[in-house]
Amino acid sequence: MNMIEMIAKKRDGLALSGEEIRFFIEGYTDGKIPDYQAAALLMAIYLRGLTEEEIFLLTKSMMLSGDVIDLSQIRGIKVDKHSTGGVGDKTTLIIAPIAAACGIPIAKMSGRGLGFTGGTVDKMESVPGMQTSLSAEQFVKQVNEIGLSVIGQTAHVAPADKKLYALRDVTATVGNLGLITSSIMSKKLASGSDAILLDVKCGSGAFMETEAEAADLGEMMVKIGRKAGKKMVAVISDMNQPLGRMVGNSLEIQEAIETLKGNGPEDLTELSMILAGIMIYLGEKAESPEDGRRMAELAIKDGGALIKFGEFIAAQGGNAEVIKDFRIFPKAKHCIEIVCRKNGYITALYAQKIGLASQCAGAGRLTKEDTIDLTAGIELLKKRGDFVQKGETVAVIYGNNRKKLEEAAAIAEKAYTVSRQKTEEIPIVRKMIGL
Ligand code: URA
Repeated sequence: MNMIEMIAKKRDGLALSGEEIRFFIEGYTDGKIPDYQAAALLMAIYLRGLTEEEIFLLTKSMMLSGDVIDLSQIRGIKVDKHSTGGVGDKTTLIIAPIAAACGIPIAKMSGRGLGFTGGTVDKMESVPGMQTSLSAEQFVKQVNEIGLSVIGQTAHVAPADKKLYALRDVTATVGNLGLITSSIMSKKLASGSDAILLDVKCGSGAFMETEAEAADLGEMMVKIGRKAGKKMVAVISDMNQPLGRMVGNSLEIQEAIETLKGNGPEDLTELSMILAGIMIYLGEKAESPEDGRRMAELAIKDGGALIKFGEFIAAQGGNAEVIKDFRIFPKAKHCIEIVCRKNGYITALYAQKIGLASQCAGAGRLTKEDTIDLTAGIELLKKRGDFVQKGETVAVIYGNNRKKLEEAAAIAEKAYTVSRQKTEEIPIVRKMIGL
């Protein structure tokens, strides 16, 4: 087998065999295939596409390039959840304790933030003392003891994806359905759960701008997961504006806690209840997603989900008192208010711009090596549909570096569009696939 023939085959629009795909993934992961040939093949794939069978084979080869986590020592149906990424998306930290409180074992691996989207692991680390790196034995033990653990994804899970993603990032080959599907699903399949709920975001702050593109991605991921023997559901949700009112690591943890107390913002609460309901249904503790939702609502009302969140923090070395006392979180030294320049309705609040502003304030990384300011972020006092008056504060930017905050404020200001006419409301969940 040789790479030149494979590149030519894909360039001419032909399908690659399982053996060829395996040869490419193994050779590239081992460093035997050079970047220039891998890049040429990626571009041929980007332009010609992959069949469903090729996507499945690519996903499987990438999954097998590293560790496949064995969760068989954990009792019950393990349910995982994955979001394709967005701004202000702290749902994992809300629905994982809810589902665990309802008897679903959650053994989850999450990522760090890169670019303008945040990551669950960074958010968790804003709780003083909280560890996000556990051994496989500790991870399994904790799930058997308290029903919930979330840790950072190790470098040994789908290393082929790590290498390929870095190459795609610098060769303009990220935005391809087959490549995105195999990238996400190889990591999810390697993570070992029995059922996977996907939250595919669409809108200005998401990978997929349109609902149709997001639905195509959701459908393909559901098909590939099912072919691999997993229970799969995908939800297409809105990411035109940030989710909730807080963006930034420590701020988002505080909002997750408020939501677990029943005081969360409407959009975040609604999405969390829908997702938690589906997880409880996939884990076979409810007859239907609606039944699951009722159980999720009860876990908020009776305090069970909040108690579970406290147990989770304590089990991973964090100070669980944060649940009662937000003063324990480190505080930002500076803040800047964004003031509205005219009267009217907010008709758009671009998620991407808020994400970039939050990153600029110090909440995100420009490179993987950057350290982040856990206190940095944005509080959105006004969102789409709200009426605002000239001179009113619409958002507050927090962080420890005043100069960065000034740059962030200039970006955040441009995120708001104010008009005389109110626009129609956009539902938070646009579509469900696989139910
Ligand atoms: N997220 C991933 O993990 N991979 C992609 O290709 C796109 C988004």
